[in-house]
Order: sequence, then structure tokens, then C-alpha cells
Amino acid sequence: MCGIVAYVGQQEALPIIIKGLKRLEYRGYDSAGVALLNQEGLSIYKKKGKVSELENHLNGLSNLNSKIGIGHTRWATHGEPNDVNAHPHYSSSEKFAMIHNGIIENYDVLKRDLMNKGYVFHSETDSEVFIKFIEDIYVNNYCSLEEAVRLALHKVVGAYAIVIMNKEEPDTLIAARKGSPLVIGVGDEEYFLASDATPIIEYTNQVVYLDDYEIAVIRNGKLQIKTIENVETNPYINQLEMELEAIEKGGYEHFMLKEINEQPRSIADCMRGRLDAKNGRLVLGGFRDYMNKFQNADRIIITACGTSWHAGLVAEYLFEEFARIPVEVEYASEFRYRNPVVNERDFIIAISQSGETADTLAAIELAKSKGATIFGVCNVVGSSIPRATHAGSYTHAGPEIGVASTKAFTAQISVLTMMALKLGYQRGTLPENRYMQLLSELETIPSKVEKALQLNDKIKEIAAEFKDARNFLYLGRGYNFPVALEGALKLKEISYIHAEGYPAAEMKHGPIALIDEEMPVVFIATKDSSYEKVVSNIQEVKARKGKIIAVVTEGDTTVRHMADHVIEIPETEEAFVPLVAVVPLQQLSYHIAVMRGCNVDQPRNLAKSVTVE
Ligand code: M6R
Repeated sequence: MCGIVAYVGQQEALPIIIKGLKRLEYRGYDSAGVALLNQEGLSIYKKKGKVSELENHLNGLSNLNSKIGIGHTRWATHGEPNDVNAHPHYSSSEKFAMIHNGIIENYDVLKRDLMNKGYVFHSETDSEVFIKFIEDIYVNNYCSLEEAVRLALHKVVGAYAIVIMNKEEPDTLIAARKGSPLVIGVGDEEYFLASDATPIIEYTNQVVYLDDYEIAVIRNGKLQIKTIENVETNPYINQLEMELEAIEKGGYEHFMLKEINEQPRSIADCMRGRLDAKNGRLVLGGFRDYMNKFQNADRIIITACGTSWHAGLVAEYLFEEFARIPVEVEYASEFRYRNPVVNERDFIIAISQSGETADTLAAIELAKSKGATIFGVCNVVGSSIPRATHAGSYTHAGPEIGVASTKAFTAQISVLTMMALKLGYQRGTLPENRYMQLLSELETIPSKVEKALQLNDKIKEIAAEFKDARNFLYLGRGYNFPVALEGALKLKEISYIHAEGYPAAEMKHGPIALIDEEMPVVFIATKDSSYEKVVSNIQEVKARKGKIIAVVTEGDTTVRHMADHVIEIPETEEAFVPLVAVVPLQQLSYHIAVMRGCNVDQPRNLAKSVTVE
């Protein structure tokens, strides 16, 4: 959470920073601020609210010219969202200004020590403590700023990506990271720093991903990287493959709508070069190298959070059905705080869109320390999780900007499906003819998703009817149970309507008490092995006057007679239904949220990448 941007070079820094902050707003949008340096000195400007509020505030001001600057968009952790708690923060002498993404866990102890020395604090943030702590070391050790940063980093506990400006060095930026991402764009004697590559892409496609415990010093057009042990490292320059258009709305009203509609392409991109049904080829680079280990694993443990955890649940069905290996799916946040029984014969799959989720990263470290092999399924190239795992496969969904995850979910399931099929085939638990049949069907999924997207107008009508509901229930069985969970999560996170997802058969053990004529119940009732049972559950809801919205297989006539609304999706293999069935549920939550006037792309209290534990 929190987005940081910095620039040093020959261009005006402010427009680059503001544009960059807008791109990073998905990471937090409680407040925004910038620090600039010119003949007037080092000045900080900050405002509660979105980057546009800051922009309005700056519009009336002069002397904003600067060839160096830092900017921040905040997701509040310590202290409420207001102007004072917004970043950047000054050091005590106002000689330094700093932006920080992360949490300093021992800030309280540091703050008390500094207060005993007479330091005064204006904000409630851990970040103000951090920069004042750095300055205290700088003053007392008569050392350079980078040395003070290095010494301070040995003392702080927690996560950080920081960038610091020094009033006396107009050509210098100092940055460091541990646990929070930081990318450095390398231009022609100019540098761009940001939490991810989106603010950088239009200026350069050469980037360096800073590693944990590394400090970058950009001075006089040169980049130098050292570890916090003071050992110089060789910056490795990566070529970005991202296209600018991928991070723009491209005519859509919201990123979420664009991303829902991109799914036929993102699923195809995910399969491209990996799946060749005609020749029975399925190749996943990172997976191939670990196939032996995977094939002989005693158990697969999948760990993730939120929507990625739902993709993990789908994968549990897939791996158990096709590869016959026992699977456990764990919330990363729970797994890491237990004392789980994990050993070197376990294969761990960590799923994450952002690749930065703090709980998932911590779960990976825990499993690694117990000798397990860790495989990442991530979307953001170069993010922390792919670098913390032994191997992995990218989902190639392209940048997902809307806070509500949509295309990343279907891309995650696509990768996991390919893994399960390949593993089943290799282990001999999936016979060749069935394997070939499944591969052929998998190749048709992008076109089936395309067809499902055409239901948009009908779904809009359903949304209009139910937009004022106070509660929703989502029910599904088997592969469709995680789809029910995901449908409910989508609705609550962007429309703020309370929604619950349940296995349909569990309804009678409690949730049925909620059913009355006010309760919309969304069933995922496609023609599969539990269809008859789900039809019975629909009857039970109908008997209690619940309003039924049913996602069914094209041509279904049975449910049509019971439901208030049916949404017919193309038929596919039972194991692949989640890839298609989730699409109308994404559309339903999108339209309801829009009709309720909610901020669809930046729902309240949320952030796209959750880098706090
Ligand atoms: O980046 P990750 O996939 O690790 O993020 C996990 C969750 O924070 C994320 O899926 C969250 O639940 C989304 N807002 C759901 O739409």
C-alpha cells in the first residue's frame, strides 16, 4: 500500500510525479504530497484526499519548478488521513524530506528515544519518526546522508521503500527497500523511481528492481547500489515489456470494466505459447524445471489472500481431480501465524496478482524455512513474490489497475488449470485421450468468455432491480463454490452491500434462516455433477420466497421455471466452468456499484496491493 514516485534529471519533476501518482493511486488514495527543490529551498506540499486534490491545491501556487522531486499517495496505517499525516515528511532541520511505503514496527521505541532527546513530532506517522531517526544518526555521527540511512536501516524493524531528498544536494536521491517494492527507471542521465513500473513506462523501458536490504544512490546522473552491509552490487537492467495502452482506460469508464472485458484476451495471452492442444503440448517454463519434485510431492499447500485465495480453492479441485495429490488451501495470514506442519516433501503454491502481498510473502518465507519447495503464480513481473520463490509461472494478464481483481483471477485459474492437467498427465492419473480432450476444450475458453460478456445488457437490468438490496447470498457447489465466494467478494468490496458466499448445501445449516422476499440469492447452477442437488437448493429458496438469480448452462429449461432471472453461459467442461461463470458475477457487481454511485476502481478503505500484515 502507498505509492511512491521520484524523479531526478533535466525535465520538470512535478508533472512527471503527479502523473505517476495518478497511476499509483490504486495503491492508496487517502492523501497525496510532493517535495520539490529549487532556489526557494526544499518545499513540501500535501493534501488529504486524492491526487486531484493535491493538483488543485498546486494549481494556485508558483515556484514549483524543480528538476528533482518525490511524491507519495497514501493508504493510511499510522494516523488518520489528513494533511499533516500525508507524506513527504521533513526531518527536524527540514534539510531532508522523505517518502515511505511500509510500516516501521519499532517506531514507538524510536519515537520515545527521540522525544527524550527533544525531538518534536507533528504527525502520528511512523514515517516522520523514520526520517527524524535518520537525521539524528546523521548529526551525531558526522556522516554522509547515505551512511546515516545505512546505519538507520540496521536499527529499524519492519517494511519500507523510501526515497530521500537532501536540500543541499539538488542532484541526489537516496532510496532503499525492504519488503516494499521499488523500481528504478534508467533514462538518459535521468532516473525515475516508483512502487511499480507504471509511472515509468512512458519514459524508459529499462528498469532496475531494487532488492531487499539495498540502498540506491543517484547522484549527478549516476546510479550506485550498495547493500546495507556497504557492499557495492552491479545493477541488473531489465527490459520492460509493458505497453503504455495497457495501463490506460482505453475509452472505458472504469478500469474494472476494461479489465472484465479484456478477459478473452488475457486468458488467451496466459495460454499463448504454453498450450498447443492439436499437438498435445502444454509447456509452463518454471513448472517444467520442478516437475519431478511436484510429481512426487506428498501434498500441495496453496497459500494466498482474497481473490487469489479463491483461485487457490478452484485449484484444489483441479489438482485433486486430475493429479490425485492431496491439497490444502490456506489463507496466508492464518498459515503464517500457526505452527504449520510443513516439510521438504511439500510443494507450496503461492498465488498473488501483485506479487507484493505481505502475508503471502511471510507465508512463503515460513514454508521455505521448513524446507518446502515454493512455486509462485503471480501477475506483476519482477515483484517480490516471484523473487522469493524457487520457481513460478507468470499469469500474463497485463496490468490490473482496478482494485477489485477480475482478469487476474481468471488468468490465475488458467495457469493453475494448465499445471493440474500437465501434472495429472505426467503422473498417469489423467489418461491421454481425456488429457487431449481437456486441452482442446481449454483452448475454447477465451471465445466462451467472449460470449459470456455479451450478457452485459441483461445483467445491467438485473443490477437495476437489485441495486438497493441490503444483503446478497451467493451459492454454488464443487467448482462453483469458489465462484460463489468470489461473486460475493466482488459485490461487497465495490458496492458495500453485505454479501455471503456459501457452498449451496451448507445453506440448510444456517443461512437459510436469512431467506425472505427481500433476499436476492445468486446460484451458480451450471449442468455439472451436482446440478440436481443445486436445483433442489433453488427450490428450497423459492419455497421461502427468496429472489433467485441463476447462472445456468445455455439451453437449461429446468431452472428457468424456478428462477426470477437466469443468466445463460456457454457450456464447457465442469472443471473449466469457473473461468466462464465468474464473468457475469463480475459484471453484476460492477453495474450495481456504478448504479449506487460507488467509486468502482478505488473502493473505500481498500488498496490494490496489501503490503501491511
Ligand atoms: O495481489 P494479491 O493477489 O496477493 O492480493 C490479494 C488480495 O488482497 C486481493 O485479491 C483482494 O482481495 C482484491 N481486492 C479482491 O478483488
